[in-house]
Amino acid sequence: MINILIVGAGKGIGLETARLLKDENLFTISRHATPELDELGSQFFELDVSKDDLSNLSLPEELHGLVFCPGSINLRPFNRLTEEDFLADFNQNFMGAVRIIQKCLPALKKSKGASIVLFSTVAAKVGMPFHTSIAASKGAIEGFAKSLAAELAAANIRVNVIAPSLSDTSLAAQLLSTEEKRIASAKRHPLQRIGLPEDSAQLVAFLLSDKSSWMTGQIIGLDGGLGNIKL
Ligand SMILES: NC(=O)c1ccc[n+]([C@@H]2O[C@H](COP(=O)([O-])OP(=O)(O)OC[C@H]3O[C@@H](n4cnc5c(N)ncnc54)[C@H](OP(=O)(O)O)[C@@H]3O)[C@@H](O)[C@H]2O)c1
Repeated sequence: MINILIVGAGKGIGLETARLLKDENLFTISRHATPELDELGSQFFELDVSKDDLSNLSLPEELHGLVFCPGSINLRPFNRLTEEDFLADFNQNFMGAVRIIQKCLPALKKSKGASIVLFSTVAAKVGMPFHTSIAASKGAIEGFAKSLAAELAAANIRVNVIAPSLSDTSLAAQLLSTEEKRIASAKRHPLQRIGLPEDSAQLVAFLLSDKSSWMTGQIIGLDGGLGNIKL
């Protein structure tokens, strides 16, 4: 068994990842406990990683995997986004990752072969209207991950980023609230469907495992082809 910390494990992709990896020694964080997560029997901490004090967070001495799932979908025309909106998205998507990675770094180093998995979005690669704030925050994650991967390679800590397109989780609920919206969203993707939390969870499991031991500093599109293909 290896020690894995999943931040944002209460719902969505983080919860699906926790389900998939339930036989490992799981440590989980979310702002709110959920009954689904309770059932998995992980060691749970109720925390907002973007702002709460992390100094008392008690983690194992060695950490083999860290997955950071919090994010936002704040889609609005640029002229209706305030400076506060940009800062809130940056805090939610980026600063939380910085804070928890800094907290976990000694334990990740101790494991002598750890893997960090972060989340971006297809909208950091392909320009989409109304995505300026989220694209900026996720662009920060992508640049950060590549630099961190370079810095931590000598310690055999790998850092990779998954960049999904629209996936069926609570985060995307408003965009998928009617059958019409779901069909239109599916049709925008070359593979004619939206993502499932399982799609991302399977990729997280691969990136945490030794099967990906030669991969670091990568931004991996998981988007039904939307990021690279034009039909
Ligand atoms: N779903 C999509 O369409 C989509 C598309 C592109 C990229 N992504 C990215 O994929 C990642 C996972 O998304 P998802 O759809 O699974 O999101 P989700 O359904 O909103 O789940 C996010 C999880 O993180 C927790 N969380 C949020 N902020 C937190 C914080 N500050 N501190 C601690 N826990 C926090 C949430 O629970 P609480 O609210 O209880 O804390 C929840 O358990 C995100 O980074 C997102 O940007 C998703």
